Amino acid sequence: MSRKKENIVVLSGAGISAESGIATFRDSGGLWEKYAIEDVATPEAWQRNPERVLQFYNERRRQLREAKPNAAHKALAGLEEKFDVQIVTQNVDDLHERAGSHRVLHLHGELMKARSTVDPQLIYDWNGDIRPGDCCEKGSQLRPHIVWFGESVPAMEDAIPYFRTADRLLVVGTSLAVTPAASLIHFVPDSCPVFLVDPDIGLLPPIPNLRYIAMKAGEGVPLLVKQWLEEK
Ligand code: APR
Repeated sequence: MSRKKENIVVLSGAGISAESGIATFRDSGGLWEKYAIEDVATPEAWQRNPERVLQFYNERRRQLREAKPNAAHKALAGLEEKFDVQIVTQNVDDLHERAGSHRVLHLHGELMKARSTVDPQLIYDWNGDIRPGDCCEKGSQLRPHIVWFGESVPAMEDAIPYFRTADRLLVVGTSLAVTPAASLIHFVPDSCPVFLVDPDIGLLPPIPNLRYIAMKAGEGVPLLVKQWLEEK
């Protein structure tokens, strides 16, 4: 008789992709040191200067095309062998998918997609640059499929039930500085152990059953995954 697999939920942030060469946001040398959020990542920035916003995300997309999943992304894909794994990521990269993870929910959008500015249901796979004049089938300019500051996060509705039913939660590479994403960790049951992998988290979140692993994702995640697979 087969037993139901345990549910592992993973909340990932920019730090999991750092070893793939993608800059984080708030570390020293991070993206928000080089760019002002209000210039490139808000609806107002898009109204004021769409070319600059497109350029910012075009650069990110070019960089992502060259990047490869690292040991942390790959280890999480391997975890599916013995667990039901749901990844909920704040990242807009596709490195979890390219590593082979099957269930990935993107809270903040996806860099490799473009979206209509008149109909948010019209979303297209987009590998190259988005240029002024690139339009959706209804004739409106395309924008990056990214959730900007000041916009709602519709994927929260799908994410919350995963956290409520988690047997284990793994939080990797996020400063937990951005809501509502950061609030998700508070939805897990009190009995759910929470593992946090981050070399430099600052203040630890006040949650029961927290186990902090002060390591880079590329080391800490494969180590933890190996332990969990061996347990089963
Ligand atoms: N392995 C694991 N963690 C790392 C590594 C690494 N190799 N390198 C850095 N980190 C950690 C940092 O210590 C920090 O805690 O990753 C975290 C990155 O934090 P942020 O840059 O704030 O990224 P994130 O939490 O994903 O940001 C959330 O803010 O602007 C936005 O929309 C953007 O989704 C993003 C959101």
